[in-house]
Amino acid sequence: MAGTKEPRELVLIVDFGAQYGQLIARRVRECKVYCEIVPHDTPLKRILARRPKGIVFSGGPASVYERDAPQCDPALFDAGIPILGICYGMQLMAKLAGGEVIGAGKREFGKAELHVQPGAVLFQGLNPRLICWMSHGDIVSKPPPGFRLDAVSRNSPVAAMSHPEKKLFGVQFHPEVVHTPWGLEVFRNFLYAQCGCQGLWTMGNFIRRTAAEIRGKTAGGRVICALSGGVDSATVAALVHRAIGDKLTCIFVDHGLMRKGEGEEVVRTFKDHFKMNLIYVPAQERFLSRLKDVGDPEKKRRIIGQQFIAVFEEEAKKLGNVEFLAQGTLYPDVIESGTRTAAGIKTHHNVGALPERMKLKLIEPLREVFKDEVRRLAQELGLPDEWVWRQPFPGPGLAIRILGQVTKEKLETVREADAIVIEEIKKAGLYRKLFQSLAVLTSMKSVGVVGDQRTYGNTIVVRAVTAEDAMTADWARLPYEVMERISTRIMNEVPGVNRVAYDISSKPPATIEWE
Ligand code: XMP
Repeated sequence: MAGTKEPRELVLIVDFGAQYGQLIARRVRECKVYCEIVPHDTPLKRILARRPKGIVFSGGPASVYERDAPQCDPALFDAGIPILGICYGMQLMAKLAGGEVIGAGKREFGKAELHVQPGAVLFQGLNPRLICWMSHGDIVSKPPPGFRLDAVSRNSPVAAMSHPEKKLFGVQFHPEVVHTPWGLEVFRNFLYAQCGCQGLWTMGNFIRRTAAEIRGKTAGGRVICALSGGVDSATVAALVHRAIGDKLTCIFVDHGLMRKGEGEEVVRTFKDHFKMNLIYVPAQERFLSRLKDVGDPEKKRRIIGQQFIAVFEEEAKKLGNVEFLAQGTLYPDVIESGTRTAAGIKTHHNVGALPERMKLKLIEPLREVFKDEVRRLAQELGLPDEWVWRQPFPGPGLAIRILGQVTKEKLETVREADAIVIEEIKKAGLYRKLFQSLAVLTSMKSVGVVGDQRTYGNTIVVRAVTAEDAMTADWARLPYEVMERISTRIMNEVPGVNRVAYDISSKPPATIEWE
């Protein structure tokens, strides 16, 4: 958020193009230490100006001897700031400090046994033999002068090294991935014992600090916020409400494309429970009429996006003298903005165009937080469990879970089928384990039979996926009994459906939604 005060305890993660960069940040945050990811070419002066308590060098795909290999300013090693180099980060540290880095001959990938040397402070409290995760081409063959050897593995003669006086540390393995199950201890040892962090990044502290900032920034002005039914916008609303109470008005545009019961739940939670100013806009007919005869997925998305903005703008204008718009931009969006290629794949709808059109100033109180932190925040702010743990749902809603044209009847069909999927998944205790579970109404009809009667009915596809984030996903291996209950119930309870199929595609090459 613009004007954010510097957090008192900051760790910077210097990104060398790591596959696991965000994971490092999440592990550091798990240790209750606030951190940010910065590009490797961030000038030394700017890094020092942030006064980090520690720095982590990420891994990266390059080899330190490549011509364009990402570098850092070697003066950083003498700045008195503890540094932990991971994989490429350690190799770079080794090379710049006068050690030796060589090609390993073949890439080492997977689990490896680590032999920790006595007195290695980064491994304090851990077993001297540990299983870790390796993924590298080069190895450090000789530590730089002044560095000690902290661990070896079969293929890495220097699997960990340190310069205890300068507080420089390097590990060849990846402590940030789940396959290094004790990896968090390495971060704890680094952050607490070496950097002197105390663990001040808690959601309680975050709420207090951010609420004060929101009060300062809005200075009595009015704020509007669009509720979507998802956890991000709900958390923004609860946080801004905590800060400025009645100065916040939430607008919920019911486009009729929500999951079963969601519209009512928004009203129950925000108007009845939180006692917020909530404008409920029933716009089902408006959206349906604009979507009439439109089958192309991109056109559907564009229409829904445009209508959403139009309705929202009308309502905000009716309110008058609104100065600010609060929205739920998360830290991964901030990191990826500009580099995101996925944005070109499909038109995501949001209220992004509004601030300029309506001359509203933006408030984005979640710009610093990860998705798992949003859920913790939501809990801390008192949002009910159904909100905290709700699976993601696309802005254009059920319209993109109906292939082809959207009609009232089709919406009814897919909404009922979806509700059955969710209900059965919850009953089986799987809801929180899955990233998403949903029903799609295909445009395919097929022959079936009921009693002696031939039917010609709709096909519902059930999709359930596991994922860390939405960039990649795997189809969930649901127990057969759960699949059976879902399919039987959909065919018995949802009129017009005589066939249920299960989607066994991963992303990529498929996507999570069908469109
Ligand atoms: P795909 O289908 O591309 O979806 O694998 C990735 C994730 O994004 C969600 N999704 C959206 N979320 N507005 C959103 O807020 C949208 O327009 C939108 N389209 C897809 C989808 O549900 C999945 O979690």
